[in-house]
Amino acid sequence: MYDRTRADEVGDRFLATYGPHGGRMDTFLIEGGRRLSGTLRVHGSKNAALPLLTAALLTDEAVTLRDVPDLADIRNMVRLLGELGCERIAGPQPTTLTLKVHDASQSHARYDIVRTMRASISALGPLVAKRGYARVSMPGGCAIGERPVDLHLRGLRALGADIVLNGGDIVARAPRGRLQGAKMFLGGQFGSTVLGTANVMSAATLAVGTTVIESAACEPEIVDLANLLNSMGARITGAGSPRVTIQGVDALKGADHTVIPDRIEAGTLMCAAAITNGDLVLENCPLDALMAAREVLSAAGVHVTEAGGPSADPMRAVCRVTCERVLRPAEFTTQPHPGFPTDLQAQFMTLLTLADGNSIVTERVFPERFLHVAELSRMGARLLRQGATVVVQGVRQLVGAPVMASDLRASAGLVLAGMAAQGTTIVHRVYHLDRGYERLEERLCGVGAKITRVDDKDIGGPATEA
Ligand code: EPZ
Repeated sequence: MYDRTRADEVGDRFLATYGPHGGRMDTFLIEGGRRLSGTLRVHGSKNAALPLLTAALLTDEAVTLRDVPDLADIRNMVRLLGELGCERIAGPQPTTLTLKVHDASQSHARYDIVRTMRASISALGPLVAKRGYARVSMPGGCAIGERPVDLHLRGLRALGADIVLNGGDIVARAPRGRLQGAKMFLGGQFGSTVLGTANVMSAATLAVGTTVIESAACEPEIVDLANLLNSMGARITGAGSPRVTIQGVDALKGADHTVIPDRIEAGTLMCAAAITNGDLVLENCPLDALMAAREVLSAAGVHVTEAGGPSADPMRAVCRVTCERVLRPAEFTTQPHPGFPTDLQAQFMTLLTLADGNSIVTERVFPERFLHVAELSRMGARLLRQGATVVVQGVRQLVGAPVMASDLRASAGLVLAGMAAQGTTIVHRVYHLDRGYERLEERLCGVGAKITRVDDKDIGGPATEA
């Protein structure tokens, strides 16, 4: 058994919010205009950890993951894995998780959990590969767009899985209990798919024969998953490139693996330093995974300098972030890795609202991911949206206002805006933020921000309903 942590509570609150009884909803009160200064360590990556956790379904032995962030989504994934017969064994710290399958009879990922966390789809590939059968509730859309899973299913079908939809669930079976290696193209309308690649790559580790995935996602989270799977005995080459080759094996063993640092948290903290005209040192910073973001920062007059010398690990670097007094405008287009990450679009747009001139932001991964635009406008930002592009006319000052968080990264953008704005900003519904940033307000307060977490009810509730 393990002790309940803060993330348990956040997770419960998150479920309660979506559950039949409503629940407490937290709000941030942010006093703007404070300069950040100090040192922060970047946590392990949420988006790497989620598919890494489901890899535990592929083996009968224990899988230990270190530096797992203490977040609501991780708790929900551990709950889901618990329902799928995967027991959590207490570790020395809340950030070390050991999982071991003790009962392989339950292979149904229920709607109740899937609807709170789309990443539950990552269980599909491992379940059908190891158990020959999986039933996973079909995830719906979310605030950032429709988010279909057709490519996941195309890839698993290419491996021979029989897949039908039944009562809102994806039901997948491997004929005679085993998938078959295959060559496949996994690209779609918006490029590669991260969790789709993770699902198919994981499933192919136990298939008979060789699988080649063309147009695979190249994200660092895929490389991290391939590294874990290889340490479990898988035979994967090419991860991090658009062609991944997997030679199937009969069984995988346990492993002990440290999750890569979170490039999106790191990029968000870089924006926090820049937007407050601050000076932050980031430890455990995955600079190598942030090249496109660093280009935009550099164009805007934000300096990211690396400490530690040539022998330092570029995925766990120490860097210092400072900026020029007046930010310059910049342009960026989100793309699959190594392009500019969609998960930093809202934060960088927020930064550019204060640049001296016009910036252009184009979203090519989730073309509807602009819910923050209207909220930033409430704070005095001048934003003109045309389809998937936003022209950002820089203003001298943002002004504090009540705003509503809509999804995880949009929420981060609003917190950044609040830290830079004149006066008080009230960010409602920060449970979105809690899904992806561990104790963000406490950490930012530790380097000079003034952010207070309160219950929405105590300040009269949100301005408007979503
Ligand atoms: C992952 O989602 C991340 N989530 C997202 O992070 C991130 O925004 C996204 O990758 C893109 O980088 C996790 O890792 C848990 P995709 P994923 O499949 O894998 C389309 C955050 O804020 N598509 O790479 O679900 C899709 O609609 C989040 O932390 C299909 O058309 O995203 C999108 O346009 C949110 N068919 C594009 O591909 C499919 O079958 C990329 O999506 C799958 C995807």
